[in-house]
Amino acid sequence: MADIKDLINPYVWTAPEYNTGILDKAWAQPEMGRMMLNENPVPPSDAVVEAITDMAKRGNRYPDRAYRLREKLGKLHGVAAENIALANGSSETIDAMMRIFLQPGDEFLCSNPTFEMFPSRAGLCNAKTVQVNLREPDLQYDVPAMLAAVTDKTKLILIINPNNPTGIFIEDDDLIKFCELGIPLCIDEAYLDYHPQVEAKIDLVKKYPHVFLSHTFSKAFGLAGVRFGYVVASPTLVDAFNLMYLPWNLSLMAMAAAEAILDTGEVKEKVKYNNEWMATFVKELEAKGLKPFPPHGNYMLIDASSSGKTSAEIVQAGADMQKLFIKSIKPINGKEGYFRVTPGTPEESERFVTFVREYF
Ligand SMILES: Cc1ncc(COP(=O)(O)O)c(C=O)c1O
Repeated sequence: MADIKDLINPYVWTAPEYNTGILDKAWAQPEMGRMMLNENPVPPSDAVVEAITDMAKRGNRYPDRAYRLREKLGKLHGVAAENIALANGSSETIDAMMRIFLQPGDEFLCSNPTFEMFPSRAGLCNAKTVQVNLREPDLQYDVPAMLAAVTDKTKLILIINPNNPTGIFIEDDDLIKFCELGIPLCIDEAYLDYHPQVEAKIDLVKKYPHVFLSHTFSKAFGLAGVRFGYVVASPTLVDAFNLMYLPWNLSLMAMAAAEAILDTGEVKEKVKYNNEWMATFVKELEAKGLKPFPPHGNYMLIDASSSGKTSAEIVQAGADMQKLFIKSIKPINGKEGYFRVTPGTPEESERFVTFVREYF
């Protein structure tokens, strides 16, 4: 009989794995500060928890398609409920978009580095991820190089705005160059809620039916463990997403939490908390001669190459000296010494400040 491994699509094994092992460690070691994963350190309010528990009492029923909630999200963006598809976190959107647009051998274009879930899910469709290095020295998208990397096999393009892990916004003129290609374009706005003064790119969705926005409540809204995301797109793309997502992809509890958190408006306080800590971190890091990139999300990329330390050394020192999980970053354009940090609870964030002062 064949080896079980040989009975499985080969690209299940060859696709890059998106490894979530750090979460097992973090849950098992609650004494460690969780500053490595772009989580929100502020838990949901009592009103949100109440909405979840109330809905749990009806957990014997299958969910509907949450028209009222889609209408509320639509209003938020000035579009109709028909322009919104609900996802089990934006990771489900990442997976669905690969399966909607890519067939084996097709190319998916994005930057290097990027959020690593994207190449992983493209690989599981047996598609090729083409990654273009960020521009030096500002680590902005290298737009001419990305446009030059487009081929007749490119069937999907990704722009994360602001980008992860750099936190940098792309210029509107540059974004339009990608829209004009006529190739499906995902604008991932997972972190946009931290900067509400920058508008979601709804106008581009209205103008270009092949452009869609991916949003999540995992970040500024702080519902990462509840799982809620959505797509804003033309009705045809919304139909495609709804066909590709599983029926009943969202639990009743997740939808109740999303609606309640919109009603409480607590996101504003959460954003304020994040942005205040970011300002403190920038001050502390710059005082040590390190280079923090503009933190437009809930994570900050730091170029610590001037310290002569490697990313691995910095992350290990954070764990040893202050019991902090911070995120190591692979060399960017061959340069070592980057790491990334997300504000934690007040106590964890204080520990990070102490770490910066004592280690660097
Ligand atoms: C750019 C980006 N998109 C999507 C996600 C996935 O978020 P979720 O599946 O929790 O909505 C992340 C998570 O870190 C991210 O950084």
